[in-house]
Amino acid sequence: MLKLIHSGVSYLVVILVLFTLINSLVKLKSKESYKKNDYIITLTTTLLSIIQLILGVFSYYFSTYYQTLRDAGFKVVMKDATLRLYIVEHPLMMLIAITLIVFGFYKHQKRENDTLKFKTLAWFYGVAFVLILSRIPWEQWFKSL
Ligand code: HEM
Repeated sequence: MLKLIHSGVSYLVVILVLFTLINSLVKLKSKESYKKNDYIITLTTTLLSIIQLILGVFSYYFSTYYQTLRDAGFKVVMKDATLRLYIVEHPLMMLIAITLIVFGFYKHQKRENDTLKFKTLAWFYGVAFVLILSRIPWEQWFKSL
């Protein structure tokens, strides 16, 4: 059940991070001012990412992968590409990406003008988006569709 929720929320997170990124780039280019809508979009993306982080931690704790880590040990896990992805790379990369999202949200609020706000969002959400895409377990995700 937890896995299913984590999997479903992933669609929303990927779409919302991409949407926030495109929104920032478009408004940066067209020199539009920062409005309440932009704040709501960014806040929603940030909150959902934090929820996904919490879901991820629970998925991790209750997954067979964590059990494998406890039984087989770190050395064995690091030698197997699939285990390494689920136990080390995916959680670590997602944690970094969500930290960037939260930090970007905090930083953009402090920027003194609208161009700088959109620039900050574009950078932080852009890098986070690439990191997320780089370590999603695509094969398993599409299999569970
Ligand atoms: C932006 C954040 C995240 C995204 C987009 C994401 C996405 C995904 C996706 C698409 C899957 C495959 C689901 C399926 O097979 O249907 C997955 C599995 C998993 N994720 Fe995440 N994840 C994120 C954060 C995290 C975090 C922070 C952790 C751990 C701390 C984590 C731990 C796991 C684990 C353990 C699995 C395997 C679950 C299982 O097969 O039992 N995820 N994740």
